[in-house]
Amino acid sequence: MLDVFSLEGRTALVTGGSRGIGAGIVKLFLEAGARVAFCHYHDGAEAERLAYGLEGAGHAVDFIECDVGDAADVERLRDFAVEKLGHVDIIVNAAGISGDRPFAEVKVEDFDRMIDVNLRGTFIVTQAFFQQMVERGHGRVINFASQLAYKGAPAMAHYCASKGGVVGFTRALAYDGAPFGVTVNAIAPGPIETAQLAGMTEDWRAMKHAELPIRRFGTVEEIAPTALLLASKAGSYFVGQTLSPNGGDVML
Ligand SMILES: NC(=O)c1ccc[n+]([C@@H]2O[C@H](COP(=O)([O-])OP(=O)(O)OC[C@H]3O[C@@H](n4cnc5c(N)ncnc54)[C@H](O)[C@@H]3O)[C@@H](O)[C@H]2O)c1
Repeated sequence: MLDVFSLEGRTALVTGGSRGIGAGIVKLFLEAGARVAFCHYHDGAEAERLAYGLEGAGHAVDFIECDVGDAADVERLRDFAVEKLGHVDIIVNAAGISGDRPFAEVKVEDFDRMIDVNLRGTFIVTQAFFQQMVERGHGRVINFASQLAYKGAPAMAHYCASKGGVVGFTRALAYDGAPFGVTVNAIAPGPIETAQLAGMTEDWRAMKHAELPIRRFGTVEEIAPTALLLASKAGSYFVGQTLSPNGGDVML
């Protein structure tokens, strides 16, 4: 690993690290030399499998179940991270939920849950560690938005609202962190082959492939390196940005 991408001596907490993009980031950060812990929600078997596989590759990783939308749970997450890592240099807010439903059928509870996990979760997890980063004079916050925050999508008003909120939160908090060596940025992936796309029909997949300039969905391995860039010395001049590896779906 090139020195500028090294996370040697750094600690990282990844929310939603049991599978998908979060799991890809856990693996890559471990390979880059970081000590890593992650949380998941109702995904214990996947978390065990991931940790077991990583152990086989010589990497130790700690994990805990936590609903990032629940403030009391996030307090437990903070205590766990402090116990396992001592302090947290890098937070990756990868936990997220998706879903499509015609606007007229979205109940206010559906909207609330989407916001709770994707936006409120990002807010309260970051708040649990931010001050400690400021006091240490170093930190990296990496949030997960979506290319749909920019382009929208039919029947996804609640999801797009939550991800648009993440972009705004990222920009605003960047001002609070940057003078103290804490950078705050986001990643807005295009469609990536994870559980979030697993339920989609073949017709939908073919239609989306045709829409994408790159003519295919992305992989976890094509997203995790953007997180490494933002977490490492290589990305130290990115402040308040939302980087969008999206196969050309949105060109900003
Ligand atoms: N996959 C895509 O096409 C895509 C596109 C754009 C943005 N994103 C965003 O990237 C992030 C990762 O997506 P993914 O596709 O890897 O998802 P995924 O469904 O594969 O994994 C989601 C992860 O979040 C965790 N999680 C879910 N609810 C949680 C909660 N309440 N508290 C804590 N953890 C919770 C799960 O345990 C899991 O580890 C999400 O924020 C997602 O919205 C994904």
